[in-house]
Amino acid sequence: VRSGPPSATDARHGGSLVALRYEDGTLWALDQTELPWVERELALRSAGEVAEAIGRLAIRGAPLIGVAAAYGVALELGRDPGESTLDYAAGVLLASRPTAVNLRWAVERVRASALTVPVPAMAAAALAEAEAIHAEELAASDLMAEHGAGLLAGARRVMTHCNTGALAAPGRGTALSVIAELATRGTLEGVIATESRPLLQGARLTVYELARLGIPHELIVDSAAPGLLAGRAVDAVIVGCDRVAANGDVANKVGTYGLALAASAAGVPFVVVGPTSTIDAGCPRGAEIEIEERGADEVQRVRGTELTIRGTAVRNPAFDVTPAELISALVTERGIARPPRPDTIQALLS
Ligand code: MRU
Repeated sequence: VRSGPPSATDARHGGSLVALRYEDGTLWALDQTELPWVERELALRSAGEVAEAIGRLAIRGAPLIGVAAAYGVALELGRDPGESTLDYAAGVLLASRPTAVNLRWAVERVRASALTVPVPAMAAAALAEAEAIHAEELAASDLMAEHGAGLLAGARRVMTHCNTGALAAPGRGTALSVIAELATRGTLEGVIATESRPLLQGARLTVYELARLGIPHELIVDSAAPGLLAGRAVDAVIVGCDRVAANGDVANKVGTYGLALAASAAGVPFVVVGPTSTIDAGCPRGAEIEIEERGADEVQRVRGTELTIRGTAVRNPAFDVTPAELISALVTERGIARPPRPDTIQALLS
């Protein structure tokens, strides 16, 4: 993987943050492991390179992972079109991370479109499908912002977890697109962002995005959230999602379940935002979602600094499942499931 010149913003996109862009056989991805200190793009030219970037969270966030994986299949077919290449590319990308269903959804869409044409046309068909997915997710971000801002028109202060902005999804993101829209409408007083240990997507990435957007914010350690919710420090909690089961259970960044429990106990609305590409209609309930377990080093060290005794045993689930009963509403580009239940979810998909 070659490093390219820093270009976190792009004049062609109105100066907004561009986490991922395809240009002439190269997928340029802002390396999120280096943010907020270094803004550097990676130049990715094969499915293996895209999978590697997804696996180490240089590219992350459910919708962005899906878009990147779609381009990954197209890049590989561009190198060597054919069914065996398609199988190889899909396999390596599907193995990169298991929880966000957007990845599987996007790879299957690109695979299906490549298989409708003769071998010499496969790469072009795959690229066209990847670009279509990219455009759809971009449009979805604006629609989620509209729907969510309508739902939360009365919320002056909100809390969010992990990173759900332009770094996590095309456009303005998922939950953070709603927050940005509330700020644009002038009703938002401020945001409380959790650190999101162990990889600090909140402290590193959400704070970076909120600062760029000029939205007032405060950073808290994850364990401060329940007390602040009990004290009614915010009017709503808004988070993203990595996979929504057919019954409305939601897998999202580890710590989301605890936030939902605390919000429920405090009577604070708990709103989940994500595109319909994050809904897994074939998964009946949250207990059946595969939760990614990541390496011990992420818990034992922060950016190389040891936090505990060397060799300490660790559990490092990257996600948890929030039962639908704790969720006030699921905001998608197609509308709102309020509350998320099998029938309201199904209505969004039909
Ligand atoms: O491990 P990450 O950083 O990819 O996890 C991201 C999240 O959990 C987000 O909240 C989620 O993808 C939804 S927002 C785009």
